[in-house]
Parts: sequence; structure tokens; C-alpha cells
Amino acid sequence: MKVDGKYFRSIWLEPDGWSVGAIDQRKLPHQFVVARLTSCDAAADAIRSMLVRGAPLIGATAAYGVALAMRADSSDAALDAACKALLATRPTAINLKWALDDMRATLGHLPASGRAEAAYTRAGEIADDDVAINQAIGQHGLALIEVLAATRKPGERVNILTHCNAGWLATVDWGTATAPIYLARDRGLAIHVWVDETRPRNQGASLTAWELGHHGVPHTIIPDNTGGYLMQHGMVDLVIVGTDRVAANGDVCNKIGTYLKALAAHDNGVPFYVALPSPTIDFSVDDGTQIPIEQRAADEVTTMTGRTADGRIESVRIVPDGSPVANYGFDVTPARLVTGLITERGLFKADRAALAAAFPERTAAAAE
Ligand code: MRU
Repeated sequence: MKVDGKYFRSIWLEPDGWSVGAIDQRKLPHQFVVARLTSCDAAADAIRSMLVRGAPLIGATAAYGVALAMRADSSDAALDAACKALLATRPTAINLKWALDDMRATLGHLPASGRAEAAYTRAGEIADDDVAINQAIGQHGLALIEVLAATRKPGERVNILTHCNAGWLATVDWGTATAPIYLARDRGLAIHVWVDETRPRNQGASLTAWELGHHGVPHTIIPDNTGGYLMQHGMVDLVIVGTDRVAANGDVCNKIGTYLKALAAHDNGVPFYVALPSPTIDFSVDDGTQIPIEQRAADEVTTMTGRTADGRIESVRIVPDGSPVANYGFDVTPARLVTGLITERGLFKADRAALAAAFPERTAAAAE
């Protein structure tokens, strides 16, 4: 997408042909800073520190991390070590493992001398595929918004609520939950997005709002607890969220707080959709209870970071000294609360049979 008139992806190969550029998401929305990753360690650190984040982007970064590793040393041992180090960075988003498995399958049978070039080629393909997948998700989601606009809201704006950041920054481009929103905006549909701030990292307030603002999408940031009120008062027509992992039965793991939005949506008859690329489906886990939930550092909860009136970026403590903190990064929304899954192959029910029928090759691979 464009930032101040210039086209950016969230990650790219630099013109030198080997180092990797990425937007440093820790600095947004106050500073737009580009980072240059020059080693596998740097790629792993970028994922761990959330310089890059969001399931599909984590996968693409890991793929480039393997390429950087192969450039330095393309032995079997180096390939193993790179995959192991990258896999250990974050536990919940399955796209990380998916991308590493893919890289291993691509490189494992090649002679060491051919691995670096093949790794860069495959990492580039994974990134390009993500863009194409998200565009397809956008088309299917757009059709949904168009029907809703025509049947339920003729002549009025459609209000969409989203949680966390499942926008182009969380992917390589377009985003998952935001792809239909950007296309709807480009088509001239009257839409407005309620943006959950998404404590503690504030991916909604810092990233989603920044993205939507740059694309001219009308939006309003709301504290995380506001969605239920809005739904009770008919102010939300549709919820679209992203996901970090979908289990074989359609349970959806996403940023902490998603489940509460799904409950509120269910209680108020608001459609609750999840937008996802197929690499986010984990056919090896039977249901959401088997998905590992990341627990993150306490300082994400105990402090807040922002820009002071005179332009300095500062962190301040917001809780009493000594109070214990819990920081679960994700929760699982049971499939029964999900109206539908928006994928690159179309709209599906969140259930085992529908997912297996939609992605037969993935189910077969998981059974091997
Ligand atoms: O912890 P994060 O920021 O990496 O969390 C990932 C997310 O942004 C989401 O939960 C998102 O909705 C799914 S990724 C498209």
C-alpha cells in the first residue's frame, strides 16, 4: 500500500539483492522507520521483538531469515539451526512453522551450493503469494460487504468492527481483515471502521488506525471494552478480524480479546467473520484447545509508550509497583461463534468438513 504517495510492502528484498528491508512497526504511528535485516539472527530478533508482527508477515520474515542464513552458511547444520532459531521466536502464529517447513522442503534436497539462491527465490515467492492471497480474500470479503450494504443498509454507511491489526502491516500487503475494507473504500462504498485499540500492545490504535488513515478509510479508535455497547445499540453491522491459527475444526485463535467480541456479536446478532490465508490453517491441531498461547512480558501491561507534546517518545508506568501482571497474547474463539471464514478460495463455514473440502491438499498433507 502507499505511504505518503510511495508504494511499500511490509517486507522486501533490498536493491543490493541480499539484505532484507522491513518497516519497524515498533515505531509506528509516530515514526516511519525502515530496518535493514542482514542476518538470520536479525530476522529472528525482528520477529521476537515485534519489529515485524502479524501471522503472515512473521512467516515471510522467517523465510527471508532462512535465506540470510543460507547466504552465510548453506550446510545442513546451518539450515537446521536457522529453522530451529526462527521457530523458537513466537509460538502462536502457525504461518511461522508453515513457512519454515516450506523452506526446508524446498532446500533440503538441494546441494549446499544451490541453497542460497533457491532460498531467496522461494522467500520472494512466499511474499508474492501472500499478496495475491490477500487480494483474493479482499474480493470475497468485498462481495460480502456489498451484499450487506445493498440489503441491510441501502443508502447508509456500513460499520465494520475490527480487533488488533490484521492489516497490510500484518501481512506482506493488503492485509487479511482489511483487504475487503480497502477494496470497498476504493469502490466508493460508504464504510466506517471501529478500531479496537487492542491493549496491551495497541496494534489497533497504533497500526490499524495508521493504515486506515493513510488509505483514507473513515475510522474511529475505541477502547477495547466499547464494542459490546456499540453492538447493543446497532452501531456495528459486521465484525471482521484476522487470525494467527485456525484449528481443523474451525476454532479461531487471534489476538487476546477477540473471543469477547465474538460473544458480544453472537448475543447481538452481528455477523462475525474471520479473514485468513490458507497457511494460517493448522490441520494438525484438532481444535483450539491444542493451540499454544503466547504469554508475553509484564512490561507490555505495566507501561505505556507514547509521544509527548514536545515530540519525545516516552514510556511511563501505569500500575502500582509490585502488582503482579498476566499477559496472555491470544485467545480462542470457538467455531460456533464464527459466522464464516473468508479465505482466498471463498467464504466457508467454520467447521471441519467445510475446511477439509476447501483445502483437500492441506488435509492430505497433515495426515501424512
Ligand atoms: O501479536 P501480533 O501483533 O503478532 O498479533 C497478530 C495479529 O496482528 C493478529 O492477532 C491478527 O489479527 C492476525 S494476523 C493477520
